Amino acid sequence: MDATAVDVAYWDLSRQRSRIAHLAALLSPEEAARAERLAIPAVRERFVLRHGILRETLGEMLGAAPPELRFTHGPDGKPALAGGDIGFNLSKSGDGLLIAMARGATLGCDLEELRPNAEAKAIAARWFSASERAALASRDGDDFDRAFVRLWVRKEALLKAVGTGLQGPLGIDTGDPEPAEAARPVQTATGALWLIDIEPVPGWLAAVAADQPMTIRLAMHV
Ligand SMILES: CC(C)(COP(=O)(O)OP(=O)(O)OC[C@H]1O[C@@H](n2cnc3c(N)ncnc32)[C@H](O)[C@@H]1OP(=O)(O)O)[C@@H](O)C(=O)NCCC(=O)NCCS
Repeated sequence: MDATAVDVAYWDLSRQRSRIAHLAALLSPEEAARAERLAIPAVRERFVLRHGILRETLGEMLGAAPPELRFTHGPDGKPALAGGDIGFNLSKSGDGLLIAMARGATLGCDLEELRPNAEAKAIAARWFSASERAALASRDGDDFDRAFVRLWVRKEALLKAVGTGLQGPLGIDTGDPEPAEAARPVQTATGALWLIDIEPVPGWLAAVAADQPMTIRLAMHV
């Protein structure tokens, strides 16, 4: 099977704030109402920026006007484009935004800022695979934090590809925490998915999961 080219775009939203009025005008009435319900201005602003940029990005790929795109949602809330065969997924962390998209693929992605997590050891003990726990036990300090976040983004990307999000089983074994830039298969409860590690900017770790072998084309908007 030929590898599918997955377009992955990283955005620093702090560089997009001057475009907020333009991006807000692309939203559907439902998205605009969802934004209105967000009480914290910075959270509302990021919502408008990322949903406007998502529409712009998918509209460009489809050759369609961004406001005309229609989305459906899976049983656990995973958004999908209505009609057509473009799969996508989005993840945000602070001002970072990651969008993965490809024709004919089911995708998941996750982006997290690298920082210490006081709950990391307890989360790993409860939810991570035996080999992941062993890999973490041999690390400390920054090495531990980096390995924990790496494993976490992989799991979230896989579960977002499946569509369950964090309600799904976190115990999937995602292998050695050292980053792997080539796609490799990972066994999940519902079959094999492919996984790629990325560090789009230093200190921000991400993973992309797909239902087929893939390569990544990374576009940076920073
Ligand atoms: C979905 C989930 C992984 C997102 O967590 P998060 O920390 O906000 O993570 P990210 O920033 O990486 O992803 C958010 C994006 O993922 C997408 N998404 C939402 N639900 C998803 C799902 N079940 N699977 C895959 N992607 C999903 C959306 O595009 C969302 O963006 P939005 O919040 O701007 O609409 C997490 O909330 C979760 O697992 N929830 C469990 C499912 C759930 O409770 N659903 C209730 C709503 S029906």
